[in-house]
Amino acid sequence: MAEKLIIFDTTLRDGEQSPGASMTREKKIRIARQLEKLGVDVIEAGFAAASPGDFDAVKAIAETVRDSTVCSLARASENDVRRAGEAIKPAKSGRIHTFIATSPIHMKHKLRMNEEEVVERAVAAVRWALEYTDDVEFSAEDAVRSEMDFLVRVFTEVIKAGARTLNVPDTVGYSIPAAWGERIRQLIERVPGSDRVIWSTHCHNDLGLAVANSLSAVMNGARQVECTINGLGERAGNASLEEVVMAVKTRRDVFNLDTRIDTTQIVATSKLVSSITGYPVQPNKAIVGANAFAHESGIHQDGILKHRETYEIMRAEDVGWNANKLTLGKLSGRNALRSRFAELNIEFPNEEAFNAAFQRFKELADRKSEIFDEDLQALASEETVEHINEHYRLVYLRAHSETGILPVAKVVMNIGEKQFDAEMQGGGPVDAAFKAIEKIVDSGTELQLYSVNNITSGTDAQGEVTVRLAKGGRIVNGQGADTDIVVASAKAYLDALNKLCSNAERAHPQV
Ligand code: KIV
Ligand code: ZN
Repeated sequence: MAEKLIIFDTTLRDGEQSPGASMTREKKIRIARQLEKLGVDVIEAGFAAASPGDFDAVKAIAETVRDSTVCSLARASENDVRRAGEAIKPAKSGRIHTFIATSPIHMKHKLRMNEEEVVERAVAAVRWALEYTDDVEFSAEDAVRSEMDFLVRVFTEVIKAGARTLNVPDTVGYSIPAAWGERIRQLIERVPGSDRVIWSTHCHNDLGLAVANSLSAVMNGARQVECTINGLGERAGNASLEEVVMAVKTRRDVFNLDTRIDTTQIVATSKLVSSITGYPVQPNKAIVGANAFAHESGIHQDGILKHRETYEIMRAEDVGWNANKLTLGKLSGRNALRSRFAELNIEFPNEEAFNAAFQRFKELADRKSEIFDEDLQALASEETVEHINEHYRLVYLRAHSETGILPVAKVVMNIGEKQFDAEMQGGGPVDAAFKAIEKIVDSGTELQLYSVNNITSGTDAQGEVTVRLAKGGRIVNGQGADTDIVVASAKAYLDALNKLCSNAERAHPQV
């Protein structure tokens, strides 16, 4: 029988460290449920000590998820570990993941601690964590630039203290596959008691090698891979879950390992994460990109038609492409909509929110002949608790564009209970709409990114817009969806402004 490879998903923690990707509690719960359905073994639900909001989100996920272990990150400090321990208490299976940096550069400049102090703290953190759960993971941050002898010493001590999983991170994405595999092999060989623990790897993608490095670690004995959906994560991101899982599955002849992942849920998970975080997936991205299974060239198409395996090493349906169900139509009733939302793990805070979603569904069905799950996901995102209570809300938009004249947009919006309107010209209708909003709000923000993607195919598809705004060192992504992309853009802009309004302070675990 093949050995098992543990899939540890950190979309909700490392993924959330991507600029502007921070998520609300409700959205994190939606992703966590989907990760559970996908079959990930461990969900790193967040960093509980970052803020009261983060604590609540980890706790809520621990209360909700039953089939995956729920984990919280904690720096190697008593307060962090205890916050993590409290947050995962309701979990059926809970883990604390504690870490401290072990490289000379981090110890000297960031921690200002010597080797003795780092070992002492690592051991203490594992012991504090064991007061809450026997499932304790320890990471040696920046292991890639740590001295081998010191790494061996730290890992030896934390095993003695009771850590069950030892994670070796390439925090800065510096390694190359052969060297990374060799590092893992040597650690397993040199650390006493290494056969009693699971060795794990956590690779960043700064050189585009995160997946290759992770797989090399696996070939050298790692039995847990830390990864994220769509490769989301700090800077260039983490190893992408879908790529790691499909490599191990497709090349079982090489790895001889099994995962618990239901690969048919991969595309749905990717789409959900992309729409919630506002990070679009590039079309040529492996596995989940729109072109990943598209065969353009005539020669390839001919080959595929004659015998599929001439050019395909995986089947699109095995990762959930084409599972895209035509769910509902114009004549569908409230019960049909309610049960489809339930199947998609979408809950509404109250009946009023469901009614509003039903109303929007009917409007959408009037404009769009076929309604898919992705349309419902986008529609539901706008009727969550935080949207209902939002400060800025679009009431009305009119945009006019015509060749030869400057486009103009009129926006009517609510700020709290009051209504305002403005009309502006712009380089295009979207620009005009943004200018009209700014005339009303005067936010002082900087627009860092604007992107539009179609949620499904066809010219009647909803456009999903992401707007990234920055102000005073904070960066947020706003999303909006509509069959009219000017309306979607205005909604995305207001969504970003609403996120900037909620000025919750959060600590970054690694800074
Ligand atoms: O990249 C890293 O080192 C991390 C650790 C906290 C595991 O994210
Ligand atoms: Zn990381």
